[in-house]
Amino acid sequence: MRKTIKGFSKLSKQEKIDWLVMTYFNNNESAQTILEQYWNADKKLQQLHDEFIENTITNYYLPFGVAPNFLINNKVYAIPMAIEESSVVAAASKAAKFWYDRGGFKTSVLSTEKIGQVHFMFHGDHNKLERFFEQIKPTLLSDTQSITKNMEKRGGGILNVELRNKTEHIDGYFQLHATFETLDAMGANFINSCLEQFADTLKREALSFTSFSEEERQIEVVMSILSNYVPNCIVRAEVSCRVDELTENANISADEFANKFIQAVAIAEVEPYRAVTHNKGIMNGIDAVVLATGNDFRAVEAGVHAYASRSGKYRSLTHAKIENGIFSFWIEIPLALGTVGGLTKLHPLVKLALEMLDEPSAKELMQIVAVAGLAQNFAALRSLTTTGIQEGHMKMHLMNILNQFGASNDEKTKLIDHFKTNTVSHSAVVEALENLRN
Ligand code: MEV
Repeated sequence: MRKTIKGFSKLSKQEKIDWLVMTYFNNNESAQTILEQYWNADKKLQQLHDEFIENTITNYYLPFGVAPNFLINNKVYAIPMAIEESSVVAAASKAAKFWYDRGGFKTSVLSTEKIGQVHFMFHGDHNKLERFFEQIKPTLLSDTQSITKNMEKRGGGILNVELRNKTEHIDGYFQLHATFETLDAMGANFINSCLEQFADTLKREALSFTSFSEEERQIEVVMSILSNYVPNCIVRAEVSCRVDELTENANISADEFANKFIQAVAIAEVEPYRAVTHNKGIMNGIDAVVLATGNDFRAVEAGVHAYASRSGKYRSLTHAKIENGIFSFWIEIPLALGTVGGLTKLHPLVKLALEMLDEPSAKELMQIVAVAGLAQNFAALRSLTTTGIQEGHMKMHLMNILNQFGASNDEKTKLIDHFKTNTVSHSAVVEALENLRN
């Protein structure tokens, strides 16, 4: 059977499925059945999802959960989270409650600048290129007027364009390095459109710059694209309380807990193997909110991890200290998010998530997302430094194991009760289920 196909995207949805079922599933009908199970009965809603991407054959569900009781700058939020990992929403909710009773989260946006670059090759006199750039800078800006005028009306737009010489890295390599304020939009389309116009203007103006030689006029644009590294689009979130308020459970004193917590963060500041896992836990919270609110979690992930390595070494994104008896724990991260454009008005669940958050501005959403990351890290470190992570994880994973073995609702109720006082492990659950069934 041939496993390649020409013109796949032109086939109807059913033809695509027929081809897949025939080619990859031995004509087994259960593949078709599984795909169909996830179609939405509402045809219009299904069509909306079909048209998000090319070659849609079904929908891929993630649970959409809510972590309530987040007190952020004295306002209470229920935070929507889309994620498959069983313990994340529970952990966020526990951390929210813990900090609700201790004054909540304090947040602020430190900066909102986005970045984009035109990467180009110029072989010639660098001084002439600099003079050329200074001369055409007003034209670069005026040529983008039709793209920027609406954004400017609202107070955003292009902040600056610089010429950057990168020839020490690659012979002939220069950049137009531009900065933008995109307000409530994530800004990818706006930035990329401006950059492509810059590239056209750059090439066009070079052709008539009289000081250039024939070769110098042939500026070669390699590409024009925004950067997902946004180290000047930073949000900060923090929690703090007196050390003696940090009572965690009866087995550990507030003092001991605070000190172990500080040590755990310190380890993630110096040890990259730990820092990656530490930051992964932060991203559990961040990605879930980013996804639920229709934002691009790959962009956020890429930018955040680059930021974690900005010193040349990969480090923790959170920090903690005890000063004058006060425990503080905080995060500062770059987040390029939007609350207009993209999926925000299109995807019904995204609309609902934003409504649940009281229609936040992009700046407000940055703060909510940073809080979700900090809360998640607090919950993870709290478990790691006290009971260990498996207790909570396995409790949450219990339902997955029960479902895997087709437990009935009655069996689930009995076993959930049983495992309130027994340690959950895969084999213990199997054994308990067998005992129950016998
Ligand atoms: C698991 O998804 C996340 C943790 O590993 C994070 C951490 O170790 O800090 C629990």
